[in-house]
Amino acid sequence: MDPLSAEELERAVTIMRGAGLLSDGVRIVLLELAEPDKEAVQAYEDDSPGGDAVDRTAAAVLRDSRALTTFEVDLSLGRGEVIEVRERADVQPAVTAGESAECIELVRAHPGFRAALAQRGLTDPGLVTIEAWGIGDQVAPAYAGRRLVWCPCWTRRHPGDNPYARPLEGVYAIVDLDRMVVLEIEDHGITELAERDGNYTPDAVGQMRDDLKALEIVQPDGPSFIVDGWSVQWQNWALRVGFTPREGLVLHGIRYRDQGRERPVLYRASFSELFVPYGDPSPGCYRRNAFDIGEHGLGPLTNSLELGCDCLGTIRYFDVVLADDAGVPYTVRNAICLHEEDFGLLWKHTDASTGEVEVRRARRLVISSIATADNYEYAFYWYLYQDGTIECEVKLTGIVLTGGIADGDRPSYGRIVAPRVTAPNHQHFFNVRLDLDVDGSKNTVSEVHAEPAPDDENPYGGAFRRVATPLRSEHDGGQLIEPLSGRYWRIENPGKRNLFGDPVAYKLIPGGNTGVLSVPGSSVRRRAEFIDKHLWVTPYAPDERFASGSYPNQTSRDTGLARWVEQDRPIEDADVVLWYTFGSTHLPRPEDWPVMPVERIGFLLKPDGFFDRSPAIDVPPSLDSCSKSVGDDHGCC
Ligand code: CO
Repeated sequence: MDPLSAEELERAVTIMRGAGLLSDGVRIVLLELAEPDKEAVQAYEDDSPGGDAVDRTAAAVLRDSRALTTFEVDLSLGRGEVIEVRERADVQPAVTAGESAECIELVRAHPGFRAALAQRGLTDPGLVTIEAWGIGDQVAPAYAGRRLVWCPCWTRRHPGDNPYARPLEGVYAIVDLDRMVVLEIEDHGITELAERDGNYTPDAVGQMRDDLKALEIVQPDGPSFIVDGWSVQWQNWALRVGFTPREGLVLHGIRYRDQGRERPVLYRASFSELFVPYGDPSPGCYRRNAFDIGEHGLGPLTNSLELGCDCLGTIRYFDVVLADDAGVPYTVRNAICLHEEDFGLLWKHTDASTGEVEVRRARRLVISSIATADNYEYAFYWYLYQDGTIECEVKLTGIVLTGGIADGDRPSYGRIVAPRVTAPNHQHFFNVRLDLDVDGSKNTVSEVHAEPAPDDENPYGGAFRRVATPLRSEHDGGQLIEPLSGRYWRIENPGKRNLFGDPVAYKLIPGGNTGVLSVPGSSVRRRAEFIDKHLWVTPYAPDERFASGSYPNQTSRDTGLARWVEQDRPIEDADVVLWYTFGSTHLPRPEDWPVMPVERIGFLLKPDGFFDRSPAIDVPPSLDSCSKSVGDDHGCC
């Protein structure tokens, strides 16, 4: 499960070159480990072969810009040969960073684009920020079948300015990436440029607040985790950290040691899509419907994290290696951060009769990675807790996307965040693929909520009970949140019982979430059907990895979850995969400018009869000798 190393990436490229697959005009869109099939992994673990070599295989997606087609390649690194090549003439793979960079310089040099700049009094195209966005399916019929992006832009007065403070409203380029030509410069008329900078560095902000004292995290005995290669142990938890070019951070094989036995919980967890539709019908916005994972991939967007800034305390970083679209490996240093955090209270009780107090502090293991998608930052966090809980959290920050607006106008579908600058309404939808194996692979998922007892059992009117309904096939698996009834989903193993004779289980508890605001039949809804439901449940299938299908770029219809579940496969007592969609509706605020303080959104996986009692009861009391009481004479503890 280890991500491909630089040597393996180079070897894969050599193999493909040797097979004549990398002729001129062919770009490597994706090159990653082809993970071994789940059954093979479980058989390998069961056999404990003691270090027998396993053939490492890789998967690549190639775009041939001359033949105007796409190839999927499977290859064996061990045997040094191509296993299979499949032509996919029906898809547009993700846009590579190389394509984006070339396309942006092409637009910058284009005479029509320069003329549009000149009309706005802009003489230095070098100061213009141009972005290459997926165009979706809202394109002129003349462009059908072409590999396209569209390019909005902004300008700066100085190279160090906030690139989004001066939108060039109304000027958009459309580029054919295969032929690498500008097809069109759309010009919807001049909107006066914003005057203010919107800069946010200490120099630009000026006076910094000066009343912050140092707050240091000290772990004099080192961290409580043990790392061996990509495998991690912490408290009773064990897992493998992974990373793919498309999904970014991936977690494998999460297990909990319970009374000497390692019990599986989660076979694989990954972000399968991140979709951001904008809710403004203006020419600068109606095409802004970004599939950040499917159209670009999180890998190339991943930050090199900085010790003491992004991550505080005793940190173990993981570097990741990716290949660019020419097949040249490059390293993202400190791409994944692993550390422990104090998390306040774990549990406490004061015995009122004796005055005896037992209190425990909580610690959590944090595994995180941060991606920059143009203006936005997405920080992805997985937390493991001492009480058996797993939490997934995304922190959204960065700069809200901006458009220009004339003095005196008020935006109908956004908010003014600075003079002549508007931030349009939008939603962020994340889909997390959770291949749960709760104490084994055969699991059943139930919808659970609470409701008042029936009248004949409810003489005092206050009785309520838990109602659980098993989801038997994929059609049942399509579920929405229902906060008022406390709906959650229970993933149980019918073959494993706890002390009380009940099937052991975990439950998926929704956090903040939202519904869809674009209307049925719209481009947004057709292309991203996975946002129609908050939960989807499918039987495990190795080629079903992405909620919006493998190739959402330029689709007219979602080819992922919504199509797969049409089979209505059985999901009871099966190796199930849960796909949880969670979203945030972002109606921007002036306080989001110039850089948005983080918004948090996520969900929990909590044991629900998985253990026979609280697994956190054996956490020892702590007495932090560094803590001190100030402002009075009372000591702590
Ligand atoms: Co937002």
